[in-house]
Amino acid sequence: MVRELDEFLRIPSVSTLPAHDADCRRAAEWVAGALRRLGCREVELLASDPHPVVWGVGPAVPGAPTLLIYGHYDVQPPDPLAEWVSPPFEPAIRDGKLFARGAADDKGQVFCLLKAMEALGQPPLNFRFLIEGEEEYGSRVLFDLLRREPQRTQADAVLVADMAFVAPRWPAVYTALRGLCYAEITVRTAKTDLHSGEFGGAAPNAHEELVRLLGRLKGPDGKINVPGLYAAVKPPSREERAAWKKLPFREGDFLKSRVQAKALTGLKRYSVLERLWALPTFEIHGIKGGFTGDGAKTVIPAEATAKVSLRLVPNQKLKTVERQLAAAVKRLVPKYVTARVEFLHGADPAQVEVTHPAFKLLDQAFREVAGRGTVPVRAGGSIPVVPALGQSGAPVILTGIGLPDDRLHAPNEKLDLQQLWDGIKVFGRFYQLLGASRRGVEKRR
Ligand code: BES
Ligand code: MN
Ligand code: MN
Repeated sequence: MVRELDEFLRIPSVSTLPAHDADCRRAAEWVAGALRRLGCREVELLASDPHPVVWGVGPAVPGAPTLLIYGHYDVQPPDPLAEWVSPPFEPAIRDGKLFARGAADDKGQVFCLLKAMEALGQPPLNFRFLIEGEEEYGSRVLFDLLRREPQRTQADAVLVADMAFVAPRWPAVYTALRGLCYAEITVRTAKTDLHSGEFGGAAPNAHEELVRLLGRLKGPDGKINVPGLYAAVKPPSREERAAWKKLPFREGDFLKSRVQAKALTGLKRYSVLERLWALPTFEIHGIKGGFTGDGAKTVIPAEATAKVSLRLVPNQKLKTVERQLAAAVKRLVPKYVTARVEFLHGADPAQVEVTHPAFKLLDQAFREVAGRGTVPVRAGGSIPVVPALGQSGAPVILTGIGLPDDRLHAPNEKLDLQQLWDGIKVFGRFYQLLGASRRGVEKRR
């Protein structure tokens, strides 16, 4: 199994970089091949602009329920490369952990769901698969596909394994995902770059204006100065807050072993979990422009761009936040500066009710195999297509076999192999339970 997963992880399917388009296609084909070996009757690459969605239909099991499995074969860029102990696309095992880009997010977890099906031999369920290659870049292709062909989401349940345990030995099921609003803010201050000796002291500087703008958009107290942004935010219920207090989460440990910085930041009035799960964020991802090469160049840049994003929480709306951000930028720059906001991609936040009987079965599978059932928690991250996966009314089960220290999107991403082996058993058991429980599930539909 490690050899097979190694093959999948070696494909550098970085969806956001056009140079990797062919690799994304190879990864899609790898998934399609795996689905065919599992006996899927129908395996197709759909809507391939830019990256194909892999669609699969498992062997027919008359009378049994249908489970739609969602996952993604694309990964985030691996940089900074120098920080990887072993290269990101040359999987290596150290101390029971498999290190590679995509090991946990999400190739290793997709692999886990497929192996669980294979291990059962005779499938107990009607399987459907939607494995996309654009999750890390906003899922536009899959969005459009599901708008055109909503029947693809018709199922008794949807299973998404693209997240983590909330702590080691604590499997989780997710009740909310944050949304995302990703933008590039560009400021222009002059027609061209200028000599900083000839003009410095009297000419506007694009970087200076951009930095000032960014500094105004979020204050040192962590408050985001986008008018109206917090208005729609739905505070967590009293029960939810009480449940979070009982989780094995210590703010001090989080700082020391996970963040590994000198202090936590943000809105100090709120607990760290509330800041991570129930409040919007504003982050700067990178700043372009001016001179960043080796050596020194004395120039006043005429243009500068920042890549930023806001995470959104239940009941915020992407479209509203886009408008609010654009208006705030316009308001915060001086008249002599031209500011442009371009939205790259985004997603509404998602909320999931975990009351459908299928959630009980997953809980039971974890309890039997891993010794503890699932705790309901929220996620700070986003999976754009989740609301669309539930559009036909099937419950969307958000879970996973990752661990909080898997370093998703960062150097030295890993998957603990024991989590993978246990996960295969857990999901195999879940498939069996769901297959046997047709009536229980149907009653609620
Ligand atoms: N698997 C993650 C989302 C995730 C991470 C959920 C951790 C819960 C806990 C997913 O692959 C991801 O990284 N999504 C992106 C989406 C974005 C690029 C549209 C994200 O959250 O940044
Ligand atoms: Mn993922
Ligand atoms: Mn990801």
